[in-house]
Amino acid sequence: MDLEGLDPNRMPVHVACVMDGNGRWATKRGLPRTEGHRAGEEALFDAICGALELGLDWFTVYAFSTENWRRPADEVRFLLSVIADQLLLRRRAELNEMGVRIRFIGRRDWRVPKGVLKRMDESAEMTKHNRKMTFTVAFNYGGRAEIVDAVKALIDDGVPSRKVDIGAIKKRMYAPDMPDPDLVIRTSGEFRLSNFLIWEVAYSELVFTDVLWPDFRREHLAEAIREFQRRDRRFGGTRSGDREGAVEGDSDLAP
Ligand code: IPE
Ligand code: IPE
Ligand code: MG
Repeated sequence: MDLEGLDPNRMPVHVACVMDGNGRWATKRGLPRTEGHRAGEEALFDAICGALELGLDWFTVYAFSTENWRRPADEVRFLLSVIADQLLLRRRAELNEMGVRIRFIGRRDWRVPKGVLKRMDESAEMTKHNRKMTFTVAFNYGGRAEIVDAVKALIDDGVPSRKVDIGAIKKRMYAPDMPDPDLVIRTSGEFRLSNFLIWEVAYSELVFTDVLWPDFRREHLAEAIREFQRRDRRFGGTRSGDREGAVEGDSDLAP
């Protein structure tokens, strides 16, 4: 991979991707949309290898949204099998050897087939001690659902309103130990987040590219990080990287 122009001292800790454009990639080639998902899985594996080469600690992908159940049943079935059989069953041993810890965020509701849940649990269990990189798959994930679930947990835990602050909510998100993404990449030329990590991206840098996800390779990841390094993150302050200066005791100051 071409690491030219990348500043090793300013690498993002956490990069998240909205993998979009599989359907259009296939349609352009006169193929069924499902072929786009198959090719998208290859692209994902290359991106994971790139993320490792770049030394990222956290790499997260949006694989299936709470809204994706609206798609035709055949396509949903195929998407589930790409995730469960291709990505998890076929790749997990290799990912494990590479030191990747696989985790999942999303709702474990009745819509998710038992077999898929089982494969997710096995993959997470098998890789839980790996520390080279955490690869999180957002599956049956919706940002609004995540916030709703956190609010429900707050109520169930009997937290009084005066005790509700950012920390109390964050603690009840799907992955409380996951740092917020520094960089979010969306492929396929769409300029939206489509309900992805909407709480966590409060201060993320967003990079949009026209590349369709099945064409995405580690070089595109490096390019997006180059773009990230050209940005000036001020976190509401006046100086670059200005995360300091929060008023003591004001737990509602971000990030
Ligand atoms: C992304 O590609 C895959 C998922 C949403 C799971 P799409 O299937 O959305 O592809 P387009 O956007 O229709 O081209
Ligand atoms: C977002 O892509 C969801 C995933 C990548 C899993 P979509 O293709 O579902 O989003 P919209 O419909 O274009 O907003
Ligand atoms: Mg799409």
